[in-house]
Amino acid sequence: MSMQFPEGFKWGTAMCAHQVEGNNVLNDWWEFEHREDTPCVEPSLDACDFYHLYPEDIKLAKSLGFNTFRFSVEWSRIEPDEGYFSRAELNHYRRVLGCIKDEGMDTNVTFHHFSTPIFASRNGTFQDPLIVDRFAKYVEATSKVLGDLIDFAVTINEPNIVAVMGYRLGMFPPGVSDKDARLEATRNLIKAHSIGFELIKSANSRTKAGLALSMSDYQAAEGGEERLEKIRGIMEDVYLENVRNNDFIGVQTYSRTRIAKSGVHIRPELNVTEMGYEIYPEALGATIRRAHSMTGLPVLVTENGISPVDDDDEIRVSFISKAVETVYKAIAEGTPVLGYTYWSLLDNFEWVLGYRPHFGLVAVDRESFARKVKPSGYFLGEIATKNEI
Ligand code: BGC
Repeated sequence: MSMQFPEGFKWGTAMCAHQVEGNNVLNDWWEFEHREDTPCVEPSLDACDFYHLYPEDIKLAKSLGFNTFRFSVEWSRIEPDEGYFSRAELNHYRRVLGCIKDEGMDTNVTFHHFSTPIFASRNGTFQDPLIVDRFAKYVEATSKVLGDLIDFAVTINEPNIVAVMGYRLGMFPPGVSDKDARLEATRNLIKAHSIGFELIKSANSRTKAGLALSMSDYQAAEGGEERLEKIRGIMEDVYLENVRNNDFIGVQTYSRTRIAKSGVHIRPELNVTEMGYEIYPEALGATIRRAHSMTGLPVLVTENGISPVDDDDEIRVSFISKAVETVYKAIAEGTPVLGYTYWSLLDNFEWVLGYRPHFGLVAVDRESFARKVKPSGYFLGEIATKNEI
């Protein structure tokens, strides 16, 4: 059976500045990954040198068949020191956006994807009340220069992951582990998003703007219903309830999470990815439906992907095929879905885990930076070209 997607459906790949550009030496992640007392296995260094090789990567994405390109601009390059906005760096991002446009693709720009300039991270980053105003100034300066070239904008990537990993589990900068810190960070992330949304829209009212939320298909196991509601409330609802005036909700889903009475229920006997997540592509359909029913907004899948053990690309092909099918089913049932963005175009720097996990449709040689498309890249590219599976 062939499943045809709506006309104009967005097919693309996603990436993030710190994970691919290389040498983002002025942000908190660079500092964190170079410290001895953090869980980071290796530093990002040159990453994929996307900073210089972007024309090649953008052309590659287009040649595979995609019509949308998601990436992030790096705050610490644009504003390396408080109040100083580098026109040269903004021009660099204008060239990146121009290149995507020249290839006939839509641009999808994220303003904050996990990394924050060092000057803004000295007093606890998102715990510092000054962060909201600092973020607003950065978004305003950036969207004034880039706004005319931005089709889709994500203010903040996965604020829920930033809050939990950075302020409750100490796994991301600033490396804090405290309940109140998570709450403070959450409040400031939501405020920063709301102000950022308004500023992006006032720079260009045609830009469609929203938030990208990490969502999981939460399922109760062994009497875990109450606990599930609590965890999902912290991870999802508090954000979903605050974005109802946005243009879309960005859904980012990798797997499901089972919650038992005692907490997250890990089943080691299940087939897992290199990240330790259960291979469960069906999760995407469930989160799409939930995001739409909680917000009333159209959904843009801003991330979905897999890092299979040993980079087994057949597993990636099968995952993509099932995930895309769940998107089709959600649309067929009446849920408005604008597009599907695979994480990621390139194998890249996977935060604390360094370069070991491989999410890419394209492999990157760590010495020469040469790119090599995997069969899954051609597979998803063909779906994108035909707009059907
Ligand atoms: C993040 C990416 C990350 C990916 C895979 C998402 O949570 O936005 O930066 O690489 O998941 O773990």
